[in-house]
Amino acid sequence: MKRAEKRIYLSTGTMHGDEEKYIKEAFDTNWVTTAGRNIDEVERMAAEYIGCKYAVALGTGTGALHLATKLAGERLYGQAKVERGVLFGKRVFATDMTFGASINPIGYEDGEAIFLDTEYDTWNSDPEALKKAIEIYPDVRLLVCVHLYGTPGKICEIRKICDEHGILIIEDACESLGSKYKLDGEWIETGKLGDYGCISFNGNKIITGSSGGMFLTDNKDDADKVRKWSTQSREAAFWYQHEEIGYNYRMSNIIAGIIRGQMPYMGEHIAKKRAIYERYKEGFKGLPVQMNPYDAENSKPNFWLSCLIIDEDAMCEQVRDDSKALYIHEKGKSCPTEILQKLEERNMEGRPIWKPMHAQPIYRNNAFVTARGNGRGQSNAYIDKGKKLDVGMDIFARGLCLPSDIKMTPEEQDMVIEVIRECFE
Ligand SMILES: Cc1ncc(COP(=O)(O)O)c(C=O)c1O
Repeated sequence: MKRAEKRIYLSTGTMHGDEEKYIKEAFDTNWVTTAGRNIDEVERMAAEYIGCKYAVALGTGTGALHLATKLAGERLYGQAKVERGVLFGKRVFATDMTFGASINPIGYEDGEAIFLDTEYDTWNSDPEALKKAIEIYPDVRLLVCVHLYGTPGKICEIRKICDEHGILIIEDACESLGSKYKLDGEWIETGKLGDYGCISFNGNKIITGSSGGMFLTDNKDDADKVRKWSTQSREAAFWYQHEEIGYNYRMSNIIAGIIRGQMPYMGEHIAKKRAIYERYKEGFKGLPVQMNPYDAENSKPNFWLSCLIIDEDAMCEQVRDDSKALYIHEKGKSCPTEILQKLEERNMEGRPIWKPMHAQPIYRNNAFVTARGNGRGQSNAYIDKGKKLDVGMDIFARGLCLPSDIKMTPEEQDMVIEVIRECFE
């Protein structure tokens, strides 16, 4: 099979024209700064879409997560000294299989992440692992919870457990803007299901401003605080007066112009992403692979990234170290390394599943809890303990993200499917 002439991407921004109009408006009115009509409008549009009272526009989703983490930390443990993070000496439960940006804010605030293993039904944090983690670490009061690849996790169960134990939830909806979850019979947008919500508009997201993020809340004091912190924590004085640490995290009015132009296309983008997912599902019929799963009854994903997972008995040998990967091809079998390599050879962009945080060098000493309890130190040279439970590493080993760009044509997607079929020959 020949190479794709035009590169087929994982996920890039799709512009519609209105974005330029709003950028021009910012230029024409000379609001080329971190204030202006575009910012006011995207905050209004996002709050309306999500169904929350306040949305604070920030430079990145990471910034939103950082300020949400700090806010939760202050609520739980009080204001910290300038030279110390608010989570100093505190543990925080966190999704394990995610992008590092979900977790790093815990470190920015000097906290220690305790990683919760993943479940197979939605590839998100396992409520059973959360229950075990609470048994082991009953003092923990905060959870960072992610909806991976736009698929809502078991947030209903997770909320119930957290409410019973007085644990606050930071909901990382950076990948799941537009995804919905049925809570007590009502469809709720992700980003509104925790105590603090965070979304991202970075370059590959379902709606993009090239970069950008937002903090979501129903609490006015929290919104005011995040707005203050994000603009260098200025006090009400004629000069620059400061009583607490500040950040330069506010969104630019130019970026907000792009997002303002994008917002009305959310539904269209989701429908196209969904069509890509369904097309892959159909195209993979007969292959020993499954699509990334979701709860069809209680959730409506935004299908941001389509992924596949190879059946266990159809995996060829694959070895990965911290930077390289090798495989041995076998007839009728394949592995993510082979598929990603073959896609790349044909000018198509795939990506491995997020490598779980507990296996990242930086977090190797952090605790990891599975549905069976402590996930560390579970092997024994002398006694057969059976297979270790580590769902995240299993999905990482057998899964991969597929080209999911909404500008990909059906013919191009057929080429991707064909490459994957060839890998199993
Ligand atoms: C799960 C997750 N959390 C956080 C982020 C951080 O968002 P941003 O890139 O806007 O800082 C991203 C995306 O980049 C993400 O995928």
